[in-house]
Amino acid sequence: MPTLTKSLLATAIPTVTLQQAGITVTIAARGCTLLSIRCPDKFGSSQNIIAGLPDPAAYEADDYYLGCVVGRYANRIGEGRFVLEGKTYQLPINNAPHHLHGGEEGLHTKIWAVKEQVETADRSLVVFEYLSPDGEGGYPGNLQLRVSYELSNNRLRITYEASTDKATPLNLTNHSYFNLSGFAEPTIHRHLLRIHANRYTEKGPSNLPTGKLLPVQGTPLDFSSLHPVGDHIDALVEDRGYDHNYVLENAGELQLAAELLEPGSGRTLKVYTDRPGIQLYTANWWDGTVTGEQGVLYGKHAALALETQAWPDSVNQPAFPGTILRPGETFRSVTDFEFGVCPDTH
Ligand code: BGC
Repeated sequence: MPTLTKSLLATAIPTVTLQQAGITVTIAARGCTLLSIRCPDKFGSSQNIIAGLPDPAAYEADDYYLGCVVGRYANRIGEGRFVLEGKTYQLPINNAPHHLHGGEEGLHTKIWAVKEQVETADRSLVVFEYLSPDGEGGYPGNLQLRVSYELSNNRLRITYEASTDKATPLNLTNHSYFNLSGFAEPTIHRHLLRIHANRYTEKGPSNLPTGKLLPVQGTPLDFSSLHPVGDHIDALVEDRGYDHNYVLENAGELQLAAELLEPGSGRTLKVYTDRPGIQLYTANWWDGTVTGEQGVLYGKHAALALETQAWPDSVNQPAFPGTILRPGETFRSVTDFEFGVCPDTH
């Protein structure tokens, strides 16, 4: 059985453990947060390959958005403002001058209810639900949310579902940061990355899309073939690394979006999604002041996030794919993280 244990800490946040085929995933009900993913390297030794905190209570103070589900709108909404059905909404500004990741009181801070747990020989599942009331975080509509994590063989599937009683913007992601060496490597510079995208959404100086889609070819953003993340990272001076939304063609179909390989451990990660975008963020502002679950300090570029998403600020970009969920509709989206090992790396 997946185990549901009430934490003995003052916060009493339920945590759930999923286990299959040598992979163990722990998840906290606060923010549906992935606390750890332990999987074997090419020698059979297991480590936690995502950034996390040693004490679940410490997530209250986390501002890196470690492992959590982000919403109602992942990434930025320009100046926190949008117009919907003739009404102007002003959301809280938490990343001046913009609204980021649903604001300080976003879905990542909410205690979700554990609705269902299933365990069979080949699948381990937990379903979380949360009702975000009308006006919460400045967003319209009572939004009923459902997030499930399902581990089967070497794949962790995240399914997002939502319905609303008023039109609302919606962009959900999971904000896990990976270091496939289990943080034995202090940075992800030697990780090999491929992103199945030829274009990205151009950004202006305050990190907001300009509306233009540009080719990655010939730029430091080009990961169309597998190569080390560190090769051109220093060219991205202003952002201190990667913080870009890649354009995925054929949105709506579950497709391979990104592949990551860490040569020392041989561990691999494949990310599949049906979303139109994926944000590569290389922990550019981590400053070595947070001690992670692995007992090491998390410094600049210690991990990277591959956030499957709608494009940033879509609510203010009429040419971008729509992100408004309306009454009567059901939003459903799937992201898979597939873990593996490649024996021939060094
Ligand atoms: C965003 C960054 C932001 C970071 C905060 C990422 O998803 O793309 O711009 O600084 O989250 O942890």
